[in-house]
Amino acid sequence: MHLTSVIITALAGFNLQQVYAATVDPKSWYDQHPGLARINKVDQSSNQIVDEFGRVRFFHGTNVVMKESPWYRPSGFSPGNSFGLQDVQNLRDLGVNSIRLGHHASAEPVRGQYNMTFMDIMKQQTKMAEDHGIYVLVDVHQDLLAGQFCGHGVPPWFVKKGWVSSAFMYPFPTKLIPFPVDSNGMPTPPSICGTVNWGLTYTTVAVGNAFGRLYTNYDGLGDAFASYWKLLATQYSNTNNIIGYNLLNEPWVGDSYYHPELLTPGVADHEMMEGLWNSAATQIRSVDNNTLIWFEGSTYDILSGFNNVPLGDGSKTVQSFHYYNPPQVGSVSTTIQNRLKDNQRLKTASVMTEFTMWMGDANQMSGMVDAVTSADTYMMSWMGWAYENLYNSSRMPYPELQAHYSRAYPTAVAGTPTSFKFDESTATFNLVYNINASNGAPTEIMLSPLTYPNGYNVTMNPAQSLVTYTVDNRTLALFPADSTQDGTSITVTITKN
Ligand SMILES: *[C@@H]1O[C@H](CO)[C@@H](O)[C@H](O)[C@H]1NC(C)=O
Ligand SMILES: *[C@@H]1O[C@H](CO)[C@@H](O)[C@H](O)[C@H]1NC(C)=O
Ligand SMILES: *[C@@H]1O[C@H](CO)[C@@H](O)[C@H](O)[C@H]1NC(C)=O
Ligand SMILES: *[C@@H]1O[C@H](CO)[C@@H](O)[C@H](O)[C@H]1NC(C)=O
Ligand SMILES: *[C@@H]1O[C@H](CO)[C@@H](O)[C@H](O)[C@H]1NC(C)=O
Ligand SMILES: *[C@@H]1O[C@H](CO)[C@@H](O)[C@H](O)[C@H]1NC(C)=O
Repeated sequence: MHLTSVIITALAGFNLQQVYAATVDPKSWYDQHPGLARINKVDQSSNQIVDEFGRVRFFHGTNVVMKESPWYRPSGFSPGNSFGLQDVQNLRDLGVNSIRLGHHASAEPVRGQYNMTFMDIMKQQTKMAEDHGIYVLVDVHQDLLAGQFCGHGVPPWFVKKGWVSSAFMYPFPTKLIPFPVDSNGMPTPPSICGTVNWGLTYTTVAVGNAFGRLYTNYDGLGDAFASYWKLLATQYSNTNNIIGYNLLNEPWVGDSYYHPELLTPGVADHEMMEGLWNSAATQIRSVDNNTLIWFEGSTYDILSGFNNVPLGDGSKTVQSFHYYNPPQVGSVSTTIQNRLKDNQRLKTASVMTEFTMWMGDANQMSGMVDAVTSADTYMMSWMGWAYENLYNSSRMPYPELQAHYSRAYPTAVAGTPTSFKFDESTATFNLVYNINASNGAPTEIMLSPLTYPNGYNVTMNPAQSLVTYTVDNRTLALFPADSTQDGTSITVTITKN
């Protein structure tokens, strides 16, 4: 540590400002800018998401998705099942600043008629998150597309019985004899779905066929998907805490049974998905020009195969990618490095919107450590899968998962971040950045009260270059001191008391 460093203390719930001269008035800045800053732009030179003040933004979050009727999580606290006030308070204390909130396309029970009861519940949940400092990624979630394929995503009318001949129905050829179905075409009894590995049945004739029809707009299904997005954008365009619209979770490549070339990594992105993403984005932009559009490619892409981002403007999009091994073959850092290459080519940003964040064997637990530390190394935002896996049988967060969710990280950098890192064993956090001293808005660091129960010490180099301000029990703000020159490289170190 440099002798010139100054050590100051910030105790949770207690503001102690530095004594040296500074004309900046943090409290009045926060009084004048209440609530969450809007996020609707990607800086195409740094490939980072920026907010309305031009600050570079980072997100740590989790997935909140309900995969069965009523398609939303109930509000009464029930660890692993609910999403209510207690849940958002817990996430807030963990230092989570974002959730990927699943919005089911089944909210259209009859074609063209939307279930506004469902929409209102999702909007209430989004507002509740906002009130606790949490951003929301509106995600249209699917796995195996439809109930007819033991999956979920689209409403029943979206899939017609006669699309594949009876001998080829789900899950042929994973099983040579298709499942019996009820009068609505749903496999029966429902427990029969458990007899196949769901992930592997993406390669079935029936699932590929249905995705193919969606991409080729058979019977206007692609248009129906785009219209659903127009409805969602209409609902959310004026909501402050929306970080983006995630077009579709883990889109399958299309009719891979008859077009096996689609299985080549990257091919389906431009051949199948790009057109649908453009038409959904066009519908979104007819009602909302601001919100970022997040798009996924094939789950097992190595490099993105898109010719361009939806509607071609990478300053208004984010590439949303997942890391699981399998299907990813390399390490998480290889995957992130590939996504950074995609960012350069597509002139956009990317966020890891799913990776393993549930308890498992030693190998899985060390993979999780690798993921969160690699994300810091490459300054990559992430959302773990999933919130429902956080709690143990005594209704408390598993300590290992809590330790990852409650890592320290910069949520907003007024300037150019050079690096940040966090050591879970000592709770020491480091941020290096070149300050934009004329920005006006502060740099903010997330310091969860669960990680720093007795508060923390802030050290900076150069000494006295920043004025610190404790915004609340998880947020430290850093404003430039009067003497701090634009572009100065500043190192901030946080240690726990
Ligand atoms: C509308 O959505 C709500 C909440 O998911 C659900 O309880 C209700 O049954 C739905 N109504 C229809 C007609 O699907
Ligand atoms: C979005 O921007 C386009 C082009 O500037 C404009 O024509 C359109 O009216 C805008 N839409 C909304 C909803 O503001
Ligand atoms: C659950 O986790 C808490 C810590 O968050 C721990 O105190 C408790 O013993 C754990 N319970 C079980 C059953 O593992
Ligand atoms: C500093 O931030 C302000 C406000 O966002 C911006 O206008 C300006 O271009 C930034 N300066 C640099 C050097 O990036
Ligand atoms: C942090 O601050 C506290 C209170 O001033 C002090 O007792 C402690 O020694 C400091 N720790 C470090 C590592 O500087
Ligand atoms: C942090 O502050 C919030 C809001 O003031 C409060 O509800 C919460 O209990 C506090 N958390 C801890 C761990 O002290």
